[in-house]
Amino acid sequence: MAAERLSTGIPSVDRLLKGGLETDCLTEIYGEGGSGKTLFCLEIAVRVARSGRWVVYIDTEGVSVDRLRAIAADDLDAVLDHLLLSTPKSLAEQGRAVAAVGALVRDRKRPVGLIVVDSGTYYYRLSLSGPDEDDARQALSVAVADLVSLALEEEVPVLFTNQVWRSIREGTLEPLGGSFLNHAAKTILRFDRLAGNRRRVVLLKHRSLPEGAAEFRITSTGLEGDGPG
Ligand code: GTP
Ligand code: MG
Repeated sequence: MAAERLSTGIPSVDRLLKGGLETDCLTEIYGEGGSGKTLFCLEIAVRVARSGRWVVYIDTEGVSVDRLRAIAADDLDAVLDHLLLSTPKSLAEQGRAVAAVGALVRDRKRPVGLIVVDSGTYYYRLSLSGPDEDDARQALSVAVADLVSLALEEEVPVLFTNQVWRSIREGTLEPLGGSFLNHAAKTILRFDRLAGNRRRVVLLKHRSLPEGAAEFRITSTGLEGDGPG
């Protein structure tokens, strides 16, 4: 049976993903700063909240209400009413937030249509090369595994953003989080910065679709992409 899809609201990206995000798995987005990861999460969060379902948003970056307002426009109050924002201040708090989200979704008192973790690797990154690196890797893996089970069991899509490191030898930008995250994410998207407000989405991994790419533009009211996907 074909998996359900959640439209991103961006035609070029929906074409690339044959309808949108799969609803029973974790989608990882990685890309350099300013590549549009957060705006993409906000764009989809606004769509889901507008539809009357709840969005759980685990935010480690200090999400911009101005950007949310620009995307939600006249629906800002209704969108905020359906947004459950969690702002962990450490990797341990992030893990507890994920566990709390699991309880909330499984409880089913509120229909949750999307879980966002942005950035999923901010606190993890802080511990790299330090004495707590192994503990941090373990904590990240546990949180990601919890999210994967939750998505699968409750059919709630998870958007998990990831930061990058530059491989000097290869000259490429590589995702953090290691091979565990790479396996746990059933869809992996890389966002690239192009000239000006243009961004490219590269589909690197998917359970049922070939690799491919699409483009969108960042505008003052959100993301637009109607060109050839
Ligand atoms: P990090 O969290 O730093 O890793 O970046 P990100 O990938 O989450 O980027 P984000 O989604 O925050 O996108 C920010 C980008 O959007 C920046 O390059 C901004 O210049 C651009 N941007 C924000 N608002 C506007 C706008 O109104 N118009 C245009 N053209 N660009 C905008
Ligand atoms: Mg961001």
